[in-house]
Amino acid sequence: MGTLILFILFSALFAPATSTNRTLSGGLSLSSENPEDVLTSPNGVFSAGFYSVGHNAYCFAIWFASRPSRSQDRTVVWMANRDQPVNGRKSKLSLLRNGNLILTDAGELTVWQTNTNSLSSLELHLYDTGNLVLRTLGGENLWESFHFPTDTLLPQQLLTRNTQLVSSRSQTNYSSGFYKLLFDNDNVLCLLYDGAELSSIYWPAPWLIRGYSDGRFVYNSSRIAVLDSFGYFSSSDNFTFSPADYGQLLHRRLTVDSDGNLRLYSWDEEGEIWVVSWQAWQRPCAIHGVCGPNGICSYAPGIGRKCSCLPGYKMINHIDWSQGCEPELDLTFGKSKFDFLQVSYLDFYGNDYNTSYNYTLDQCKKLCLELADCKAFQYTFSTASGTSDCFPKILLTNGYRIPSFDGSFYLRVPEKNLLSNANLTEEIGLNCSSEGLLLLERAYSKSKVNGTVKFMLWFVCGLGGLEIVIIFLVWFLFIRTPKSSSADKQGYLLAITGFRKFTYSELKRATKGFTEEIGRGAGGIVYKGVLVDNRVAAIKQLHEANQGEEVFLAEVNIIGRLNHMNLIEMWGYCAEGKQRLLISEYMEHGSLADNLTTNSLDWKKRFEIALGTAKGLSYLHEECLEWVLHCDVKPENIFLDSNYQPKVADFGLSKLQSRGEPKNPSFSRMRGTRGYMAPEWVFNLPITSKVDVYSYGIVVLEMVTGKDAAKGVNDIESGEQPQHKRLVSWVREKKNRAALTESWLEEIIDPRLKGEYDVRKMETLIDVALQCVEEEKDARPNMREVVEMLLAQENDG
Ligand SMILES: *[C@@H]1O[C@H](CO)[C@@H](O)[C@H](O)[C@H]1NC(C)=O
Ligand SMILES: *[C@@H]1O[C@H](CO)[C@@H](O)[C@H](O)[C@H]1NC(C)=O
Ligand SMILES: *[C@@H]1O[C@H](CO)[C@@H](O)[C@H](O)[C@H]1NC(C)=O
Ligand SMILES: *[C@@H]1O[C@H](CO)[C@@H](O)[C@H](O)[C@H]1NC(C)=O
Ligand SMILES: *[C@@H]1O[C@H](CO)[C@@H](O)[C@H](O)[C@H]1NC(C)=O
Ligand SMILES: *[C@@H]1O[C@H](CO)[C@@H](O)[C@H](O)[C@H]1NC(C)=O
Ligand SMILES: *[C@@H]1O[C@H](CO)[C@@H](O)[C@H](O)[C@H]1NC(C)=O
Ligand SMILES: *[C@@H]1O[C@H](CO)[C@@H](O)[C@H](O)[C@H]1NC(C)=O
Repeated sequence: MGTLILFILFSALFAPATSTNRTLSGGLSLSSENPEDVLTSPNGVFSAGFYSVGHNAYCFAIWFASRPSRSQDRTVVWMANRDQPVNGRKSKLSLLRNGNLILTDAGELTVWQTNTNSLSSLELHLYDTGNLVLRTLGGENLWESFHFPTDTLLPQQLLTRNTQLVSSRSQTNYSSGFYKLLFDNDNVLCLLYDGAELSSIYWPAPWLIRGYSDGRFVYNSSRIAVLDSFGYFSSSDNFTFSPADYGQLLHRRLTVDSDGNLRLYSWDEEGEIWVVSWQAWQRPCAIHGVCGPNGICSYAPGIGRKCSCLPGYKMINHIDWSQGCEPELDLTFGKSKFDFLQVSYLDFYGNDYNTSYNYTLDQCKKLCLELADCKAFQYTFSTASGTSDCFPKILLTNGYRIPSFDGSFYLRVPEKNLLSNANLTEEIGLNCSSEGLLLLERAYSKSKVNGTVKFMLWFVCGLGGLEIVIIFLVWFLFIRTPKSSSADKQGYLLAITGFRKFTYSELKRATKGFTEEIGRGAGGIVYKGVLVDNRVAAIKQLHEANQGEEVFLAEVNIIGRLNHMNLIEMWGYCAEGKQRLLISEYMEHGSLADNLTTNSLDWKKRFEIALGTAKGLSYLHEECLEWVLHCDVKPENIFLDSNYQPKVADFGLSKLQSRGEPKNPSFSRMRGTRGYMAPEWVFNLPITSKVDVYSYGIVVLEMVTGKDAAKGVNDIESGEQPQHKRLVSWVREKKNRAALTESWLEEIIDPRLKGEYDVRKMETLIDVALQCVEEEKDARPNMREVVEMLLAQENDG
């Protein structure tokens, strides 16, 4: 109900701009000459009409009507004739009496049609969802634009096995570009670079193993994906995500941008701007085809993506990097003597001739020299096998420069040119001047009450596209992982973490020799530190772990990818010798535990904290590629930002500590903190995400009652049970007596709230908490359901 009201309110804000046309009836047409000839959806959100794509060039399109003043930069969500624009004069979209909808160029040539026919009369409607529908008066749909998407998927629009999203060529050229979102033959939703000569899938990351480490399910051939209005996306291959602003009813669109990234945008009404709330790739250079063959992509935060050519190669087309580079030198096989130029920090993905394990450098050189097609080779040392492996390359594509890449790249060049060109040619930035620079802001919209925390995003236009930099992914680290025999098709495996590696000495300096201790827990000791860039950080020194560096890095990699407004932001890690440290943001407002003690939280804040914490945990449980259980949810691990929004800390540690710990008896099985631990721990039952749900329920009960579940609670009638169970049964009992006594809420709610609270919200909160602390794990809701229950209450209120 509340949702509906909200929706109506929201729609009213997008009131129709000028036109009042709702339908196009049989025998009528819309003309390219009359700007008033637009169809508008009943809620005024979408319009359909002729959209100018160049000088005297028009496409029939659907766009967000938003504000009249912003008609210049309309957001187009669909186009009928993107590859064949029509003349501004005498072009028409006509609904013929025979049922066909046709688009004619300059009154003559039909450039596009729906190929429908019907004896009964038809109408063309633009629905509130943005779907343009040709339907009979009886209500039967003959054709709909949702079945023929261009580069954008709107909420409720299905992406199916018959449809795909295709990026536009550039930000200004709307014709079909190189990047596609579609279901491939393995039933996996993927992003495909479909260039002039080469195609390759770059998302899910090609070095991950299909249906295994890429987290996709390959056996569901229904091939359906859909985005809902709250931002939740799900696909039949089990890929799902929820954006940072999940749960709010916003205008949203999922678009394959011309730079090859897939992004979910939500409309920020306040700023009148589209904000990115999710994207497939954080590393612009991992997108294939960016710099063309023999080109190298490099990327620096704040500066953006740049292309350059390999030494001895030059750019083919000076305004189009997608064509790449061609050799300046004569590389014809057999013409001259060749040698190899070593270039550091360079990786080219794919196109290996074969992979030869345990080769010496000389053997590898010899192999490449004997192959006519060998342009270069990659030579890498594998720590797993203790041998060096050789990857001769027959094409050099998807090249990118990574400072942390530890293999070597050897380029075949004529012997006589070997010394002349030892450095890479000067990097040339992707030419942006023809595209214009777009500055977008990323806002993590919080709830209506609490305003927003803003993050800046720079969008830099790239090769006919825009390109993105997320500021908090300051640096990228690439870890080579041991080659797995099941992955031998791939040249090698790379894993990524989205955050930085710190050196131990750097952290020692930052913490002034680990002096300012701010917390101590099962996992380790937390120190406050100031990084060289003046950011204040919380630095957790983990208890000495027995696991190897590679395992640690693999786990840390997961933590580094987690990114949600209700999770503490992780900045990096350090792994040197036996030292294992994690670096994250520092929260000035302290933990929920501190704030409960000092009584600085009114009921509204408490409700917000309960909701935010649930969102953070829900993200951990369901919305990441791997499941991450927290296993230690408690008020000490929930921190508050300046708006009293909660941020969950210490997540993923259970994963870090689950390996190599058998010698430490306190950790061999039990994890978590007394008072918050679910019965499964005690009874040695399988541990699932429901253990976090239990702990969460206890935390909520504490927030509501103001009583501490871990320490003694004197005024609760005592018994033989542990404290937290006593808290649960006390609340439950009071609630059961609700029928008898009207004042049950008053009896349990924190007296420090002085009776100031919203009765319905508090009841909901208690209800939800009691469900969470059910003894039987299957009786507990999951975190996503918790979020939904609390959101429903919030929207009604
Ligand atoms: C649409 O509305 C405008 C004025 O609101 C009118 O001039 C135009 O003829 C209408 N077009 C159609 C196809 O009804
Ligand atoms: C847009 O790109 C296409 C190639 O995809 C090209 O043929 C066309 O000329 C371009 N249009 C403009 C206006 O640059
Ligand atoms: C995919 O999701 C379904 C339903 O959510 C679940 O039953 C199934 O186990 C999942 N498959 C994999 C491989 O994760
Ligand atoms: C396949 O995916 C669809 C859509 O997500 C889902 O409804 C269906 O249950 C799945 N089928 C199986 C066998 O998992
Ligand atoms: C790779 O190809 C070369 C040349 O054809 C051959 O000598 C070598 O044995 C191959 N390596 C493997 C691992 O197949
Ligand atoms: C690598 O090759 C060398 C000699 O060719 C051999 O002695 C060594 O055992 C090999 N190492 C492995 C791990 O196969
Ligand atoms: C390559 O660059 C390095 C450092 O930038 C410089 O010292 C060296 O002289 C350069 N080499 C050539 C051949 O230009
Ligand atoms: C970028 O493009 C503009 C206009 O298209 C041109 O004037 C400028 O020289 C180009 N810059 C580079 C570095 O190619």
